[in-house]
Amino acid sequence: MRTQVAIVGAGPAGLLLGALLHKSGIDAVIVEQRSADYVLARIRAGVLEETTVGLLEQAGCVQRLHAEGLPHDGTELAFDGRLHRVDFKALTGKRVTVYGQTEVTRDLMDARLAAGLETVYEAQEVTVHGFDGPTPEVRYRKDGAAHVLRCDFIAGCDGYHGVTRASVPASAITTFEKVYPFGWLGILADVPPARDELVYANHERGFALCSQRSRTRSRYYVQCALDDKVERWTDDAFWDELRRRLPDEVAQAVATGPSIEKSIAPLRSFVAEPMRFGRLFLAGDAAHIVPPTGAKGLNLAASDVGYLAQALCEFYRDRSEAAIDAYSTRCLSRVWKAERFSWWFTSLTHRFPDTGDFGRKMQHAELDYLVGSEAASRVLAENYVGLPMGH
Ligand code: APR
Ligand code: PHB
Repeated sequence: MRTQVAIVGAGPAGLLLGALLHKSGIDAVIVEQRSADYVLARIRAGVLEETTVGLLEQAGCVQRLHAEGLPHDGTELAFDGRLHRVDFKALTGKRVTVYGQTEVTRDLMDARLAAGLETVYEAQEVTVHGFDGPTPEVRYRKDGAAHVLRCDFIAGCDGYHGVTRASVPASAITTFEKVYPFGWLGILADVPPARDELVYANHERGFALCSQRSRTRSRYYVQCALDDKVERWTDDAFWDELRRRLPDEVAQAVATGPSIEKSIAPLRSFVAEPMRFGRLFLAGDAAHIVPPTGAKGLNLAASDVGYLAQALCEFYRDRSEAAIDAYSTRCLSRVWKAERFSWWFTSLTHRFPDTGDFGRKMQHAELDYLVGSEAASRVLAENYVGLPMGH
């Protein structure tokens, strides 16, 4: 089998890249180790920057997003028993859209199927070869048979645990990592959200977040210990802990109900440099991880593949390698800014083992400054709604 671009991984990065390339008339095959149902069962983030919505528009995949996505013009910060609103629209002229990553993935999968584009699901023993030369290959097994996919380029969209980054010689790659000493326990429930907008809460018992998927589906998180086990949390225990960490007016508005999903995720910051190795490009979680506090993971994956699609388009259309050569630098400039924002917002809102009374006072003073200063609020808002591509 031969294609122009072999994409490893059918998460949002791989699927969006496939859709953008298709719009530019470039052939791609996606090789994914899991089944489509497995990919769709993963509950992930749900806040889209305007840039991400723009790329989904370019990919022709926004009908349901426009119908069902919830535009949010701001967010709320809770600390010291009080609630403060940061008005994104007034401060930056931009808003975000609340629409689950699972729904983005479903829309992209449906569009791919409708266009008759090839995705190999349940591919086993996926390996990548020859990307330091002119004839790269992706090899895999499917239903017991060995397959070779020859291509011009490989896009490594296979997430943090994928095979593509791991196939780069150690001497060619540098990684940067910070593991946080806590996780997030998340719950999804068919209850109306407590507030119209998201609430990020700093509390002495730990961070809490009120998020949502629709007017009838809520997503809530509480900071938990790294070694905590989801089985230790009944739904009631979760709801009690969540309400304890929220200001009274929010806590009273929390509607409780049975959880549809409950899981614990560790928090990590991670960057691999560079993001291109000959004819292999890394994109999305394969190249970088952010703690979820800044809602940047999916948006960074989208901007990476936005740059990559553009670079590949210029290669095939104009025979120019300039954008391919610039890919890694362009992505990393944006990635590090998102890393900084996500790290800062995590530091400001979570309880660390060494936070102590003094640390809490410092967090409160900074939060107080933030909500009281228009300039400081604007910095938060600009980072949250996302920088334009090219920055
Ligand atoms: N071969 C083929 N596919 C693989 C392999 C492999 N060896 N390893 C992993 N995959 C697949 C995974 O099964 C998954 O479907 O690659 C896909 C990677 O998808 P994601 O982990 O969702 O990563 P990405 O598409 O970059 O999306 C980034 O996901 O984790 C969130 O916060 C993150 O929202 C962001 C988004
Ligand atoms: C979510 O809805 O899952 C979500 C929202 C905002 C975040 C993180 C997660 O910062």
